[in-house]
Amino acid sequence: MKCRNCNIKLDNIVNFGKMPLANRFLKKNQFKKEFFFKLRAAFCKKCFLFQLTESPKPQQMFNRNYPFYSHTSNGMIAHFKKFFTFTKKFIGKNSKILEIGCNDGILLKNYKNFKHLGVEPSKNVANIAKKKFNLNVINNFFNLDLIENNKKLKDNYDLIISANVICHIADINNLAKAVSLSLKTGGAFVFEEPYLGDVIQKVSYDQIYDEHIFLFSLNSVKNIFKKFGLDLVDYKKQTTHGGSMRYILQKNATKIPKKVLNALKIERQKGLCSVEKIKKFKLDCQKQKLFFVNNLKKIVKKYGKISAYGATSKSTTILNYCNIDNKYIDCIYDTTPDKINKFSPGKHIPIVNHRKFHFKDHKIVILFAWNHLKEIQKKEIKFIVNGGRFIYHSSKI
Ligand code: SAH
Ligand code: TYD
Repeated sequence: MKCRNCNIKLDNIVNFGKMPLANRFLKKNQFKKEFFFKLRAAFCKKCFLFQLTESPKPQQMFNRNYPFYSHTSNGMIAHFKKFFTFTKKFIGKNSKILEIGCNDGILLKNYKNFKHLGVEPSKNVANIAKKKFNLNVINNFFNLDLIENNKKLKDNYDLIISANVICHIADINNLAKAVSLSLKTGGAFVFEEPYLGDVIQKVSYDQIYDEHIFLFSLNSVKNIFKKFGLDLVDYKKQTTHGGSMRYILQKNATKIPKKVLNALKIERQKGLCSVEKIKKFKLDCQKQKLFFVNNLKKIVKKYGKISAYGATSKSTTILNYCNIDNKYIDCIYDTTPDKINKFSPGKHIPIVNHRKFHFKDHKIVILFAWNHLKEIQKKEIKFIVNGGRFIYHSSKI
């Protein structure tokens, strides 16, 4: 396998085994035909890009049945309002804004009074952005073909924004070239993604699944985008999704600020550009798997089966990597109508409406949506007050 960015041979593979699509929640009659692939990640010692060695076709993941609706979290609604405020410095009243992967419009709706366009391949969520929020959205994948076939999209945008999408796009050079072509000179590209540094520190290997083809760092982002005249000129650490990074790039910047040069150096000092760090991460994942499975076995022996909360994409990696099924977990509570009354990918644990979560029934619950702890704690305050405890798949969370 070669690096998806610089085409050199990859090694140091972290193997998570046979994995289903993270967001393919199933009905019983679909169990037999379930799709699996090998979930393995590797690190490029030249450009420092952490990446999956293979990934399913985009159309398999992003289509009319995509069950992730961004508006599910109030915390994220508030976060994206702040994202908008942050980007105001890049735009004036006649500016044009493009969002890559706008989903149900959670971020783009803040730019409604500007000339805007969302590009979103998953039809169900794109339709919500269009119909509920009255936004301009193209139901398509953002890539070079799209830009080259739509002359109006070329050299047209003052600001391109994206959140939790760029790491989903396998042909990263194609994406970078497409962004560069559609931005005006001097225009800004602002995107944020789960951060490699946090994943390594928290051993939150659950951020690794079919859709998350990359885990970026400042160094890898700089190396990918500079080839296309997109310079990393700023960054801002975020707490969302268990630890993210916002990257601010500018087309043909005249100067790279000291703040960025220092941060790149600090990342290197912390080992985020070193193969040794990835080797350690691989061992840490194996240790956390053992820790979690043993802990769960003890708990189940004492209390019987327990429940989980949040049928996240991330939980698909945990359940399948740790080989945890319905013998240990009776159900996963969740708010998403498209997931409720279906079964989790691979391990086929029932998904139950969160309204059926009764605090008196539970002492210990696995929180798969650990990144939404504050929001969920507030909703389930009776569970906490009653002595209930959330547990996690990693002792470092
Ligand atoms: N930005 C939202 C959605 C993130 S989920 C948020 O942060 O909540 C990832 C989204 O990326 C999905 O809606 C998916 O359909 C979209 N996506 C995947 N590949 C894409 C591509 N090539 N171009 C544009 N959007 C894409
Ligand atoms: P998220 O961490 O965004 O998911 P992913 O790992 O797929 O990126 O969490 C979204 C899921 O968590 C979604 O299935 C809905 C569920 N959820 C709840 O059940 N209750 C809540 O209060 C929140 C915020 C999310």
